[in-house]
Amino acid sequence: MKLFVTDQDGGEHELEALEGWRVMEVIRDWGLPIKAECGGALACATCHVYVDPEWFDRLVPMTEEEEERLDDAMLVKSNSRLSCQILMSDELDGLKVRLAPGSEP
Ligand code: FES
Repeated sequence: MKLFVTDQDGGEHELEALEGWRVMEVIRDWGLPIKAECGGALACATCHVYVDPEWFDRLVPMTEEEEERLDDAMLVKSNSRLSCQILMSDELDGLKVRLAPGSEP
C-alpha cells in the first residue's frame, strides 16, 4: 500500500507501506526527516503531521492522550495528528500527509 508524504521543504515522496505499521515508522524507515524522538511512545510530539483534509475523517479518531500531547507541537492545525498514532491499513492505502515544522531531526 502507498503512503504519500510531503516533506518540510515541499518535496513529495511516494512510500511503500505495510499494513499495521505506524505512519511515523514508514516515514522514518524510508529516511525522510522526522525526529520522532520518543519512538512512538506518545511522549514527544515530534512526529507531528498535517493530514490531507480528504483523508482526515477516515482516520481512527484521536485519543485523549494524543490530543494532550499534540498541544506540545508547534503550529497545530485542525488537521494535525501525531503520525506514530496512525496505523496503516487497507482503508488508508494512498493516505497523504505533510511533515509539520518542528518535526525535522
Ligand atoms: Fe513521539 Fe509520536 S514519536 S509522540
